[in-house]
Amino acid sequence: MDATAAADIELSGVRKEYAGGSVAVSHLDLHVPAGSLTVLVGPSGCGKSTVLRMVNRLIAPTAGNILLDGQDTSRIDKVALRRKIGYVIQHVGLFPHQTVSQNVATVPKLLGWSKPRIAARVEELLDLVGLDSGMHGRRYPHQLSGGQRQRVGVARALAADPVVLLMDEPFSAVDPIVRHRLQGEFLRLQETVRKTILLVTHDVDEAVRLGDRIALLSEGGKLEQYAPPAELLARPASAFVAEFIGTDRGIKRLSVTDIDPAVLRPVGEADRDSPEVSAAGTLYDALAALLEGGTGHVVVRSGENLLGAMTADDVYRAAQAEVAAA
Ligand SMILES: Nc1ncnc2c1ncn2[C@@H]1O[C@H](COP(=O)(O)OP(=O)(O)OP(=O)(O)O)[C@@H](O)[C@H]1O
Ligand SMILES: [Mg+2]
Repeated sequence: MDATAAADIELSGVRKEYAGGSVAVSHLDLHVPAGSLTVLVGPSGCGKSTVLRMVNRLIAPTAGNILLDGQDTSRIDKVALRRKIGYVIQHVGLFPHQTVSQNVATVPKLLGWSKPRIAARVEELLDLVGLDSGMHGRRYPHQLSGGQRQRVGVARALAADPVVLLMDEPFSAVDPIVRHRLQGEFLRLQETVRKTILLVTHDVDEAVRLGDRIALLSEGGKLEQYAPPAELLARPASAFVAEFIGTDRGIKRLSVTDIDPAVLRPVGEADRDSPEVSAAGTLYDALAALLEGGTGHVVVRSGENLLGAMTADDVYRAAQAEVAAA
């Protein structure tokens, strides 16, 4: 798989008015850098799915342009365009009367790949999303769990190695624990495949966990703020943004703030009983361990080494410093 294949997406002055006059998106400018994962969040009906559908030309904008690597998508042949774009639709949308393997093979088949090439690709993809092709490949969608179906949806979207991946609430149909695991797997997958991803959710925690950048929309596709998660949480641009991301944004922010080794204090004798947290963790992990612990300290570990200790005050100060820096 080509790990560098990703495209830059640029929406400028995009508007969508549906027949009957409802304005789903009034005027949207949005730049999604190649290889980044941008999350669209906003209340129901604010135009998120409409934006995705315009990017792959399932529907046409009423005004404005959408550029893919600088090329106006309205001038690219539709079939050629969709070959470059994988699409995970809201509510998965697997074909119920086709097996998992047949579902994943949809686009390669349309492209006329040979049978052995398709079979190899299907196996590779099911493996990539953590499904056993021998066991799951022959099953039908109704014989899978919700989380497995969503993974098949992701595998199908990746089948022809697209440069862009559009995902509409891909993890919404599963319980919080499975969702958390799928999100983790998905982040690892993105490290491998490095697509340009535009992902829709209305779950702020999901947006914060997955996004390189978050585009927060209000009704009519109005862009309220477009920023990395840490900045959105530290500096909401409007009352609407602050309300949408919630009064616990201070806690959410801990989950996007790395532990800075420079703020650690030396590990003392008393820390033998202190809980530990990985140096790769966040301030959120440190605070959670502190609350579990009972010694007032948490020790930060990197492999064999203990880097230092933190108190709740240290976590607080580190979080404040991060706000000042954002
Ligand atoms: N085919 C259509 N014809 C007319 N209006 C439509 C059509 N599709 C969507 N709309 C309207 O456009 C607006 C935006 O819809 P869209 O599906 O983009 O919202 P969304 O942000 O994806 O919402 P959700 O979070 O509920 O999925 C809504 O008011 C919706 O009713
Ligand atoms: Mg939608």
